[in-house]
Amino acid sequence: MCKNPHEKVKVLKELDEVLGSDPKKSIPFESLDRLKYTEAFIKEVLRLNPVLPFLWKMATNDDTLGGMKWKAGTSVFINVYGTHTHPNNWERPEEFIPARHLEEHKMKADRNAYIPFGGGPRLCPGKNFAMATLKLLTALLFRRFDIELVDKNAPLKTSFTMVRHCEELKVNIRPKIPIAG
Ligand code: HEM
Repeated sequence: MCKNPHEKVKVLKELDEVLGSDPKKSIPFESLDRLKYTEAFIKEVLRLNPVLPFLWKMATNDDTLGGMKWKAGTSVFINVYGTHTHPNNWERPEEFIPARHLEEHKMKADRNAYIPFGGGPRLCPGKNFAMATLKLLTALLFRRFDIELVDKNAPLKTSFTMVRHCEELKVNIRPKIPIAG
C-alpha cells in the first residue's frame, strides 16, 4: 500500500464507497464480496510476495510431465514465484498492477499461472477464509490509520523457512480519527 500510493488511493476510495465513510461502523460480512479492487490488490501482493514461494510434491507413480519422465518417489519443486513472474504468463510481470486480476481486465493470465494457494486436490482449504480476513484487516487498518513506511526505498526484510516471513517493517502510524478509549 505504502509503496504504491496511486493504488492505495483506489483501495481507500473503494473502502469508502462500499463500507461508508464512518470507520467505526461495523463491517457486514456480505460487503466483503463487493470489495473487488481491494481483492485484486491483495491478489497482486500475493503474486509478487507469495507466502509459499515453492510447493513441494512427490511423484507417487512413474509419470510424464512437461515432456519429461518422472520416476515414482521423485521430488518435484514447483517454483511459485517463478510462475507468478514468468513473462510467458504475465504482461509486464515485474510491475504492481492489481487491475490485472479483475474479471473484465484483458491482462488476465491463465488460472494455472496464479497459484498462491496451490492447486488441484491439495488446494488450500483456507483460501476463502484467508481472503476475507485479509480484506477485513486492510479495511480495519487503512480506514482508521494513516500508515507510511519510514523508508520507502528500504528492501523488505524477509526470511524463509517453510513459509516466507516478514522480519521487520518500520512504519509510522497516525490515527485518522480520535479513537475512544
Ligand atoms: C494468505 C494466507 C494463506 C496462504 C497464502 C496459503 C497457502 C497455501 C498453499 C499454497 C497450500 C498448498 C500447499 C501445497 O500444495 O503443498 C496450502 C495448504 C493448506 N492450507 Fe493454506 N494458505 C493460507 C491460509 C490458510 C488458512 C487461513 C488456513 C486454515 C484456516 C489454511 C489451511 C491450509 C491447509 C489445512 C492446507 C493443506 C491442504 C492439503 O494438504 O490438503 N491456509 N495453503
